[in-house]
Amino acid sequence: MLEIRNLTKRFGGVTAVDDISFRVAKGHIHAVIGPNGAGKTTLVNMISGVYRCDGGSVWLDGADITNIPTDRLVYRGVCRTFQNLEICGRMTVLENVLLGFDRYMNKSLLPTLFRSRQLLEEERRYTERAMHLLGLIGIEKYARQEARNLSYGILKKLEIVRALATSPELILLDEPVAGLNPKETSEVAELIRTVAADEVTVILIEHDMRMVMELSDRITVMHFGKKLAEGTPDEIRNDPKVIEAYLGGNK
Ligand SMILES: Nc1ncnc2c1ncn2[C@@H]1O[C@H](COP(=O)(O)OP(=O)(O)OP(=O)(O)O)[C@@H](O)[C@H]1O
Ligand SMILES: [Mg+2]
Repeated sequence: MLEIRNLTKRFGGVTAVDDISFRVAKGHIHAVIGPNGAGKTTLVNMISGVYRCDGGSVWLDGADITNIPTDRLVYRGVCRTFQNLEICGRMTVLENVLLGFDRYMNKSLLPTLFRSRQLLEEERRYTERAMHLLGLIGIEKYARQEARNLSYGILKKLEIVRALATSPELILLDEPVAGLNPKETSEVAELIRTVAADEVTVILIEHDMRMVMELSDRITVMHFGKKLAEGTPDEIRNDPKVIEAYLGGNK
């Protein structure tokens, strides 16, 4: 379903992502792990059209989607969350989710929504759907509150819900549980499982190894921009190269 072929990105003298290739089957959870600075976020930025690739290509369901900008990729069913939250603090939780539906709405600007009867009806439907998605992770009770007044944990969940509102085929999650407590972490893990069971393909960047090992179908390990290993959680757990990269420090 998703095929990454020889992706490469350079920043000046640094090759942040160096000839990375892998394939992900539909509805699978594919983790990309590696030490800080390994190139994981840069890889997500290329797949999601934030950075132009210096080499290689990205294929989704057989179509070449390399270097399509993020705002166009959403129409191809690709969306992502950010390592640093990108939530609109002055909007309510509900409004943030409604932004995610933007691709389906008649009017792209929310304030124009509330005019005709037809648009009111549309707003009602999307609000219902948004409340359903918020309910999946238990934050529907905050729907009418301004995002900036809420805790970090709630905003991390909100970011995933907003991404889901685009009805993606592929969702890229960059450290979705960083900074969350164990309870919030298991709630997000459960949501990711539900999403994948719904045939959405998931790319998961995460430092929480327990979560990665429990959730992933396959794992790609990056180290200094290169692919160090790829395999099932069991294969990765027992791979001497991986153990060395994590425990042996920088070489
Ligand atoms: N916009 C940029 N300009 C210059 N260098 C960059 C840029 N983005 C990333 N880099 C460099 O590319 C390398 C990979 O960074 P990246 O953020 O992709 O790592 P990461 O694996 O996501 O790390 P972390 O686990 O800390 O999030 C690093 O050496 C980083 O300094
Ligand atoms: Mg990163």
